[in-house]
Amino acid sequence: MGTATARANANIAFIKYWGNRDDRLRLPANPSISMNLGGLFAETTVRWEEDLTADSFGLNGKEDTGAGLTRVVAHLDVLRRRLDIAQFARVESRNNFPTGAGIASSAAAFAALTVAGAAAAGAQLSERELTTIARLGSGSASRSVPTGFVEWYAADAHEESYAESFGTPNTWDIVDVIAVVSKAHKPVGSSAGHQSANTSDLQTARVAGAEERLRQCKQAILNHDFAAFADVVEHDSNLMHAVMMTSRPPLFYWLPPTLMIMDSVRQWRADGLRVCYTLDAGPNVHCICVREDAAVVSERLRASSEVLDVLIAPPGDGAQVLTVSIP
Ligand code: PMV
Repeated sequence: MGTATARANANIAFIKYWGNRDDRLRLPANPSISMNLGGLFAETTVRWEEDLTADSFGLNGKEDTGAGLTRVVAHLDVLRRRLDIAQFARVESRNNFPTGAGIASSAAAFAALTVAGAAAAGAQLSERELTTIARLGSGSASRSVPTGFVEWYAADAHEESYAESFGTPNTWDIVDVIAVVSKAHKPVGSSAGHQSANTSDLQTARVAGAEERLRQCKQAILNHDFAAFADVVEHDSNLMHAVMMTSRPPLFYWLPPTLMIMDSVRQWRADGLRVCYTLDAGPNVHCICVREDAAVVSERLRASSEVLDVLIAPPGDGAQVLTVSIP
């Protein structure tokens, strides 16, 4: 048993995952697609060691003994069972972006934990299997394992609900310009949100149309058709938030600045900029635009007093092992 460090980028979904057909296995109600966010990553070190008497977890230099540790231990249990490991582990993770603010920190975290945990045990798992294991920690983490543009399949069996790349980071030169309007931890996390998705009357309709929207979105990406892309991406994000807002109890992730920026983005597009918005389970607005328009979009966002910060991410790589040492 040894030590390994892995890095995984966050990702932004263009066709969203919301709600599970099986909560325990995180088998999603519908397939989804996303782009990895280059430069916005989690870096995680896992050390399996004979002498440890319990798992422990440090996040951004601070010891986590609460809910974060419980989730990490559950994921280490999955790795222990699959790889026949008897030891406990020391896990240290760092994000270079704000945690819990709608920038999919759990996706990067569980992708990096999965890849580092397997590498530290000297295991050579296929990318496909790594995506299914990452999925058990956080559904969207499955999409942070493969490179570039990624599809995650919905299925009834654990092995069949995996993610794979349909485009490298060079497939299309688009950029995610993220308008950060709040750095607070979200009040209701996505695990609880998935579990209440079916309490919305709108979820059945959202899920029924997801495959067709996914087909349109993928085609728009592969054809570099920004108008078609913007249309389906904004529609899919609106549908997911409509489900959230009509769940019982309702989930409102938008803040007033969120709505203001969505409105500006639609106006900028009408004026000729190739930009559209999408939102995850948080108030920050992901403004997806073609590379040539990224500077003006970020300049306009920065000019707004409501915007605390602007992060810029091009299409990114899949999860990577940075170092491994097995004595
Ligand atoms: O992977 P989770 O459980 O954090 O869920 C992520 C859900 C959304 O970010 C809202 C949508 C998505 O597909 O990433």
